[in-house]
This record gives sequence, structure tokens and C-alpha cells, in this order.
Amino acid sequence: MIVNYCKDFLIYSRIEVLMRDKRIAIFGIGRIGLPLALILADKGFQVTGVDVDPYRISLLRHKIMPFTEEGAQSLLDKHSGKKFQVFSQEHVDRIVVENEIIIFTLGTPIDETYSPNFSDIEKLIRKIAPVMKPGHLIILRSTVFPGATEQLARQLEEQTKLSIGDNLFLAYCPERIAEGKSIEELTQIPQIIGTIDEISAEKAAKVFEKIAPKLLFTNPKSAELAKLFCNMYRYIDFAIGNEFMMIAESYGCNIYEVLHLVNDNYKRGNLKSPGFTAGPCLVKDGFFLIDKSPYMELVTAAWRLNENVPGYLLSRVKAEIKDLHRKKVAILGLSFKKNIDDTRHSLSPKLERYFLAEGAKVSLYDPFIDSQPLEDVIKDADILILAINHDVFKSLNFQYLGNLVSEGCLIFDIWNMFGTGKILFYLKDVIDSNKSVTTGNGEIKKSNRKHTRRTLQRRVSLSTT
Ligand SMILES: NC(=O)c1ccc[n+]([C@@H]2O[C@H](COP(=O)([O-])OP(=O)(O)OC[C@H]3O[C@@H](n4cnc5c(N)ncnc54)[C@H](O)[C@@H]3O)[C@@H](O)[C@H]2O)c1
Repeated sequence: MIVNYCKDFLIYSRIEVLMRDKRIAIFGIGRIGLPLALILADKGFQVTGVDVDPYRISLLRHKIMPFTEEGAQSLLDKHSGKKFQVFSQEHVDRIVVENEIIIFTLGTPIDETYSPNFSDIEKLIRKIAPVMKPGHLIILRSTVFPGATEQLARQLEEQTKLSIGDNLFLAYCPERIAEGKSIEELTQIPQIIGTIDEISAEKAAKVFEKIAPKLLFTNPKSAELAKLFCNMYRYIDFAIGNEFMMIAESYGCNIYEVLHLVNDNYKRGNLKSPGFTAGPCLVKDGFFLIDKSPYMELVTAAWRLNENVPGYLLSRVKAEIKDLHRKKVAILGLSFKKNIDDTRHSLSPKLERYFLAEGAKVSLYDPFIDSQPLEDVIKDADILILAINHDVFKSLNFQYLGNLVSEGCLIFDIWNMFGTGKILFYLKDVIDSNKSVTTGNGEIKKSNRKHTRRTLQRRVSLSTT
């Protein structure tokens, strides 16, 4: 009898230990937390998501994705209510007690003084600290400023009376996916694991070895810097594209033609194209780097350049059309980048504001976001701006536009979506033109003499819904 009892107890304890390693709670089921939760559930973890947004919770419980994310809906259908469950903050105490592994994916914005705002995470620590027990592993996945993990370690130790590396574990494991491609990229990108102690590293590795192809171990500050450098390197790269556009245009040259000359079969090329460069990460993360280093010019210069592309556009348009009063402006694309529905830190509202201040009438359209119908937005437009290069815009053709926009419509196509190679042109001129044009990939295409209305018409017909 006693032997049987002991056997049962041992089996039960073993299952408990196994289950502990398999249960994960994720705080913040947003653009980063949700895809991660779904991938972890798909890899066999029992994942509990916690969020403060009741609407988001309700959508998820009804198996509805709260935002676009390629491949996520099918994983939500598969795991919702089974391997993946979502709860509001009311259940925090129980969830913390039941889950030894806790991942933080809360937002880390900048405040009105452009300083990192860590308050959501600090508040959460205060809330969960009283119920935390020896053995808990906290994985910080939000993007943070250098030194934040060590700051968090101090707060955790003070508030839980536990000790990092002995009976409490902490790892900074940054997220490096591109929004919209999370599901694909989560299993492709090496995972950086930054810890103060080795046991925390081993414990975090047990989670990420199930999803990442490679683990890179380091200290917290190097991990924090690596994440910020990834984003800022891209941001500066795009700023170069934008500055070079402004320089080329000031010489009356088309940037896409120059880019083609630089990049074509040249192994030290790879210059980025211009574009509206923004978004919650790229815009704010630089401020995490320069917060305590006022002389870091490159990051601020990139920010000034990228944020001023709408201002540059306005000045170019005003050089063509002096009086914008009552002119109709159509802005296509409201998200901060292509093929997603995230409008945080998008440059389109800035564009809208600039043109409204000039007395223009502005209409906006985005196929991923609730907005006016495309035809209403384009109809009688005097200025048409392709603010974001959503793939679906590739199917806009000049004939369709020509039938709707005003006679002298000026088009701003910073992405070269129309393949003219020009960032600013009159629709009429392009339609009438029989000169060589530059195609979307920067390749110079010899046009036949009739490369006018008819050739351009062949560009796929419109299908934006
Ligand atoms: N979006 C990206 O492409 C991306 C990429 C890499 C890293 N990051 C970083 O990841 C972090 C999260 O970004 P995001 O885009 O997922 O933000 P998000 O706003 O989409 O998600 C944050 C979620 O946290 C929830 N939340 C806030 N306080 C909470 C609390 N106390 N408890 C539970 N939930 C709470 C919010 O309701 C929201 O759903 C940020 O630090 C960001 O910089 C974002």
C-alpha cells in the first residue's frame, strides 16, 4: 500500500515537473506576444496569454485575429481554447502561481520627453511580485534600453525577496521578427539570450531551443544593444536611401536610375531605395540608444531625415502647385509599412496634417484599414500620394487612375510602384511619354515608341479588395 502510494506520488511529482517546464504565461498578447504564444502552443507548450485589453481578449476567445499577421489565423483556430488560452488581468495571481515561466511582451514606448517609458512593465512587476515563488523564470522580450534588464533584476529582487541566479531567474530574449512575418520568422531567427547568471540562461534556452534554429548566449546589456543595433542599422540604412533621393533629385536626376547604376551587379552596392520609413520600433528605439548619450549624431540624423520625408514631399509638390487651397489630395496607405494594418507611428497622418494646413482637402485609403472606398478617395484627385507600397497597389494602372483623377494630377511615387523611375510626375506626362522608363526593380527598359497609354494599360487591372 505504502509502496504504491510512494510510486503514485513519484509519478505525480514527475508529471508536475514536466508540466512546469511546459507551461508558459505571456503577459501582453499584442503584435509580439500573440504570434509567440501561437508558435509556442504549436510546439507543445501550454500557453496562457494575459492582456489588459478586454476587446482583444474577446476577439481571441472567438478565434478572431485582432490584427493581420500572415499564418497566425490558422494557428489560432488550431490552438485557441486548448493549448492557448487568454485571460484578463483579474486572473493574474492564479496564472503566476500556475506558471513558472513568464514572458513579458508589453509595450515599451517613449514618453513626452522622448525617454524610454518602462512603466507598464514596472507596474506589472509590482502586481505579480507578491505571488512569485522560488523557481520562477521571467523572460523579458519587449525592446528595452541598455541596462533595463539589470534594473528589472534589482526591482524583482527587492519586491520578491528572491535572488536572481539562486531561486529566481531572469533572461532578456529580444524579438527580432518583422511585423507581418512573425510566424515564418520566429522559427528562422537565431535567439539572443542575455542573462546575468548561467542557470537563467539554461532555463531560457529550454524554451527557445524548441523554436529557434540557434541560440546566442550573452550578458543582458549586449543583448539589449544587439536588438537596438538591429533596428537602428535598418533605420539608418533607409535614411541613406532618403537622403540620396533628396540629393539626386536636387541635381534633377531620378534616384531609381542612380540606384540601378549603383546596385546592378556591383558587389559593394546594395543601397536602399527611398521610402516612408517609420513604425513604432524604428522610430522609438533610437531614443533608447541616445537617451544618455546626447552626441550620437547618426541616430538623430536618421530620425530627422526619415521623419522629414513628408515635409520634403510637400515642398516638392508646392514647387509644382503653388496654391494648394481646395486641391484634392489622395493618400494611399495608412499603415507604417506594407501589407499590414498597424498605423502606429505611420507618416501618413503627418502628410495629411501638412496638406490640411495648406487648405487642401485630403482623403485617405488603405485596403488593410477601415477607410473611405478607393474610388471616392481617388476621384478628382489633384495630387495622388502612394504613401505605402502595399503589394495590392501594384495593380493600380494608369488607365484606371486617368479615368478618375483630375486632368493635371500630380503623382508622388517614392516607392517606384508605377515603375516610371520618377518619384514625382504628372500622370498625363507619363501616359503621353514615349521615352524609356525605369521598371520597378530598377532595370532600364527600352520602351517601344508606343510605350504610352496602351503599354501602361496592360499593367494588371485594379483589384484592391
Ligand atoms: N511590433 C513589432 O514589430 C516589434 C518587433 C520587435 C520588438 N517589439 C517590441 O515588443 C514590445 C511589444 O510590442 P507590440 O508591438 O507587441 O505592442 P502591442 O501594443 O501590440 O502589445 C502590447 C500588449 O500588451 C498589453 N498590455 C499592456 N499592459 C499590460 C499588462 N499589465 N498586462 C498584460 N498585458 C498588458 C496591451 O494591451 C497590448 O495588447 C515592445 O517593447 C516593442 O518595442 C515590437
